[in-house]
Amino acid sequence: MAERTRLRLDRALARLGLGTRKKVRSLIKQGRVEVDGEVITDHGFILSDPATAQVLLDGEMLTLRKHTHLMLNKPEGFVTAHKDSRYPVVMDLIPTELQAGGLASVGRLDLDTTGLILLTTDGELAHRLMSPKYQVEKMYHLLYQGKPFTDTDKEQFRLGIRLADRTVCLPAELEILAGNAVQLKITEGKYHQVKKMLLATGREVTYLSRLSIGSLMLDPDLAVGDFRPLTKQEILDLYHLVRLEIDPNYL
Ligand code: URA
Repeated sequence: MAERTRLRLDRALARLGLGTRKKVRSLIKQGRVEVDGEVITDHGFILSDPATAQVLLDGEMLTLRKHTHLMLNKPEGFVTAHKDSRYPVVMDLIPTELQAGGLASVGRLDLDTTGLILLTTDGELAHRLMSPKYQVEKMYHLLYQGKPFTDTDKEQFRLGIRLADRTVCLPAELEILAGNAVQLKITEGKYHQVKKMLLATGREVTYLSRLSIGSLMLDPDLAVGDFRPLTKQEILDLYHLVRLEIDPNYL
């Protein structure tokens, strides 16, 4: 059992947000990292008990902590940012102590968009979830004004909507619901993407809410404005989705 909690030094430092694996390996090679009183220059060094190891960088103690991953049900009227001069920000909804370690949102939602925001201290996870390389699907529920959608529109979304600036979107999946509601699944995250896609078809979004990011679904029990930590399973599924390794004992 103890075997499985061991952690490579370079991986542990990268998880702390000290930089990419390459960057932290260079820090180690330069002799700037000490473990339990000894300078370690081998990046493959194994911490036999990461939870109790005393790790110092340039003489400063580091805490080998687990990452924080939260889901937030964003209300309207909040900017997806740490600070804003005019509006409240999503970080106002998160206690300061949970923001430690560089908690940041994975992508942004517009001021008037509600729904799922994923906040994480793992920069590599955030990067991969947003990178076009991993094609992570995002599902939106929306209401619109304009002509009712038809199967022809669904096909147009499937082939790729051409925006007003002539860029062509990646294939998207449109599901027509009752009334003026639809669900749209996209794999891109361009600025105002969903609104621009609807505009390109001559319609206007009147309400927009994000339901999922990859495998992560907005918890239907999470009230607007509330957040909760991800479950172990939700974390494992997200790491798996973007082909990132994670030791389940270090969640
Ligand atoms: N697309 C938009 O237009 N707005 C959002 O907030 C998210 C996706």
